[in-house]
Amino acid sequence: MLIALLPGDGIGPEVTAEARRVLDAVCGTALSYEEAPVGAAGYRAEGHPLPPATLDLAKRADAVLFGAVGDPSCDHLERALRPEQAILGLRKELALFANLRPAKLFPELADASALRPEVARSIDLVIVRETNGDVYFGEKGMRTTPAGRRQGYDIMSYDEDEVARIARVGFETAKARRGRLCSVDKANVLETSQLWRDVVIEVARDYPEIELSHMYVDNAAMQLVRNPGQFDVIVTGNLFGDILSDQASMCAGSIGMLPSATLDVNKKGLYEPIHGSAPDIAGQGKANPLATILSAAMMLRYSLGKPAEADRIEAAVAAALAAGHRTADLGGTTTTSQMGDAVLAAL
Ligand code: IPM
Ligand code: MG
Repeated sequence: MLIALLPGDGIGPEVTAEARRVLDAVCGTALSYEEAPVGAAGYRAEGHPLPPATLDLAKRADAVLFGAVGDPSCDHLERALRPEQAILGLRKELALFANLRPAKLFPELADASALRPEVARSIDLVIVRETNGDVYFGEKGMRTTPAGRRQGYDIMSYDEDEVARIARVGFETAKARRGRLCSVDKANVLETSQLWRDVVIEVARDYPEIELSHMYVDNAAMQLVRNPGQFDVIVTGNLFGDILSDQASMCAGSIGMLPSATLDVNKKGLYEPIHGSAPDIAGQGKANPLATILSAAMMLRYSLGKPAEADRIEAAVAAALAAGHRTADLGGTTTTSQMGDAVLAAL
């Protein structure tokens, strides 16, 4: 099976290198790898954040393991050439619409959570975030108002098929877990959200066994820190899911811990840590590789049909934490490669 390895920018190369070592140890020659540049690295090498050869590799591969993109030196470029367009382009071109972001607290990290340990301990949820639509992909631009003032705009929209498709992933995810789905929207203000809510209710008819609830996004942000244990699966749109998943990561200990999978209808997927490129600490060996290592485990489980290997990696991560290894984000001094060593040792 072929893995497209796209390390990207900042800490991306450091964390994907550790994930690769762990995959080699667990899968050996069952997996082969081809590496290609994305993000600012793609722009520097080929003049585009998502070079055609990189996109082609991602399409050919059985799964994509992605580091992170983003580089302040590219902030002056026109939007189409900025590093972030790489991940947005991959999601769109490969029709990766279902982004699964599990947030679960490793018991050893209760003290690293921004929440009190007794509140943090209850977190065990999955955010199912739509990633092919919403304000991210609507018409956008800069224009001048009749009064001669500059105006920026980004159109938010979802059609009913897009909502139904992600709603089904939400219901199926809940079915495989504790059977509770919370749909997050802003239906008190936005038409997009009213349609979202109506369609989620329609799809719910096919899932009578799932307990469905609805929550406005502002309330959801508040409930996530007040009592995160109330959530099993959250299904939401692209923008709300982006924000809530960063928030959930800090509740679960550190943004350096949360993996993600973004799947198409056939469960082909792109796997990436939810954190960004962290240019401020790049190249210093400070980055936490666990989110990427856990993303590799999700890849084995969801796209490559290797659940036992995924279990082994997740258990090894837990063991490395139990042995006391902590990178800087978790309040320790373990380096990126030492954390990789600790996971390898625990395998
Ligand atoms: C994420 C990131 C991306 C997003 C950026 C890098 C475009 O924040 O995957 O959450 O907004 O989706
Ligand atoms: Mg984000």
